[in-house]
Amino acid sequence: MQAWIIPPPKEPVKSREEFRKEREDKVKWLIRDGYLRSRRIKNALLRVSREDFVPAPYRDYAYIEVPFPLPGERATISCPHSYPLFYEPLGLDKGHRFLEVGLGSGYGAAVAREVVGPEGLVVSIEIDPITFDFSKENLENAGYKDILLVNRDGGLGYPEMSPYDRISMTAACIDVPPPLIEQLGIGGRLISPIIRGEDQDLVLLEKTKKGVRRRVICKVLYVPLRGRYGAST
Ligand SMILES: C[S@@+](CC[C@H](N)C(=O)[O-])C[C@H]1O[C@@H](n2cnc3c(N)ncnc32)[C@H](O)[C@@H]1O
Repeated sequence: MQAWIIPPPKEPVKSREEFRKEREDKVKWLIRDGYLRSRRIKNALLRVSREDFVPAPYRDYAYIEVPFPLPGERATISCPHSYPLFYEPLGLDKGHRFLEVGLGSGYGAAVAREVVGPEGLVVSIEIDPITFDFSKENLENAGYKDILLVNRDGGLGYPEMSPYDRISMTAACIDVPPPLIEQLGIGGRLISPIIRGEDQDLVLLEKTKKGVRRRVICKVLYVPLRGRYGAST
């Protein structure tokens, strides 16, 4: 299992220009290391200023591969590589109806919004009210007004806007909550960290007319899912 060393909090001093350069270098690194392939996801990562979603004491570290704590209980903004790690196997693309469980900082929802474009839909659910307020403010400040933000238990999904083409769970569960499988359309894909003993597998599910196919992608380490289908770790 991986573990991270969080650098000490500090007053942010970096300029917009420094962050832009770091963002471009990060995208090159993600391509070189095989995380990033699709042009739409690449352009989305270049468009969204990750530093706007990182709490001020950690803002200068926005592009390093560390998940930083967010306001709220056990919430983090995931490492930069996590976003293409999830969105590439999902095949997230223009026009998709996308549901995220675990809004966190709002960064993943903003990247998804850029990928699906105005033809698509982004719904993101956060269970923690303090984390929810933090992400809502980040998204408003960054100019994202067309993401449907929901403050409740994401294990129950959001049937009001289903079916979804793609679902991303950013908290680890024992097994994928049945309501999320129900709300996934035929041909749709869902990605989630799933707890296996001491470890977590990142698992990709594809819903077909005949049932649900599963493929393990790699080992990951995510905060546990809370709520009705929560993991008690
Ligand atoms: C790794 S963080 C999310 C990172 C986020 N996608 C981002 O870009 O910053 C996981 C989030 O899932 C949230 N969470 C945990 N259980 C949840 C549930 N049942 N429903 C909705 N959100 C949940 C946590 O509060 C936390 O904010």
